[in-house]
Amino acid sequence: MNLGKDKVNFPLCWAPMVGLSHLALRRVLRSYLPAGAVVPWPTEMLNSRKIPHEDFAKTPETMRGPEETHLAPQILGNDEKSIADSVKRLEHEWGAQAIDINMGCPVQKALKHNYGVALMGDANYAAEVVSMTVRNTGLPVSVKLRAVEQSSAEPDKLLNFVNGLQQAGASWICLHPRTASQKRRGSADWSQIQFLKKNISIPVIGNGDIQTAEDVLQMREETDCDLVMSGRALAARPWMFWQVGEQLGLAAPPGRSGRSPSTPEEEGLEYGRTLIQLIDECELIFSPQLTLRKIRFYLRTTHVWLTFGHALVALSHKAQDLDQLRILVREFFDQPQEMVPRTELRQ
Ligand SMILES: Cc1cc2nc3c(=O)[nH]c(=O)nc-3n(C[C@H](O)[C@H](O)[C@H](O)COP(=O)(O)O)c2cc1C
Repeated sequence: MNLGKDKVNFPLCWAPMVGLSHLALRRVLRSYLPAGAVVPWPTEMLNSRKIPHEDFAKTPETMRGPEETHLAPQILGNDEKSIADSVKRLEHEWGAQAIDINMGCPVQKALKHNYGVALMGDANYAAEVVSMTVRNTGLPVSVKLRAVEQSSAEPDKLLNFVNGLQQAGASWICLHPRTASQKRRGSADWSQIQFLKKNISIPVIGNGDIQTAEDVLQMREETDCDLVMSGRALAARPWMFWQVGEQLGLAAPPGRSGRSPSTPEEEGLEYGRTLIQLIDECELIFSPQLTLRKIRFYLRTTHVWLTFGHALVALSHKAQDLDQLRILVREFFDQPQEMVPRTELRQ
């Protein structure tokens, strides 16, 4: 998998998530990545009908840091003019090194406009969307998709669908093996990742239910996928990058020393540090009100790994401003807190 002149050389990357994959949280996560590790970096989902007119530097979803490399923004779209205008801007003005097409978004709005997971209902058109994108950029184009509903009438539906994307020029595929109706509940069926890897020639990224560094290695072993992607858990414990690096014998990430947090107490403490780092990073680029909203959303998604996470969520709603939020967060983490390795993934 090539990103510009570099090759992906690390087994774990982060998943695109609306409301979370913004510059501030990308900066926090990247601070735990071992030096020299090359992985694609997601953005929030970018609507191709808006990108052509967006002020990249001011729109929270398109802000990028000058230090950021290997960015693979995710677009949502289905018409050639918008896709062409978007990918040209993303490539030449914004500095993208790959373009990811969303074919997994199950929300009603995406379905209404016939993009996101709706594209999975029409294999020919989905392949055409990949062709439209490939025609308009020199960058690698990837697709992130969900599992398809199993049907005895069409046992090869997933493979046929992905073969179409491959023939249309997709450089790699990311599979989150839950069906649209499962949304993010139930468990991800890793055997579908293994099946795709065996049956297509382009690289496969496996995603779904990765909660720990051990899970990363287990998914690689079970499915033989080229890269593992984690969303919610990597947002909650960004030092999973560090833990995986340690398992591969890599040095601590730049600016960090010793060994990665690993016990429930060490992880609890690190969650508190990460949260303060995130508040600081958000404040640098967002308004105070938007920072508060972003932090509350971050907590809503990640608190489930903290034993008393619900109390932290409640505190974040009590805070009227960022100074108060920092005080409440510091008081909370003055008491020893613990993180659990795994939790039931419900949202
Ligand atoms: C809050 C949230 C927002 C998400 N937004 C997107 C999105 O914009 N694009 C996308 O492809 N997937 C999106 N997803 C799905 C994730 O990328 C990922 O496929 C899913 O969470 C499963 O991975 P996980 O079990 O490691 O979290 C989102 C997930 C969450 C929790």
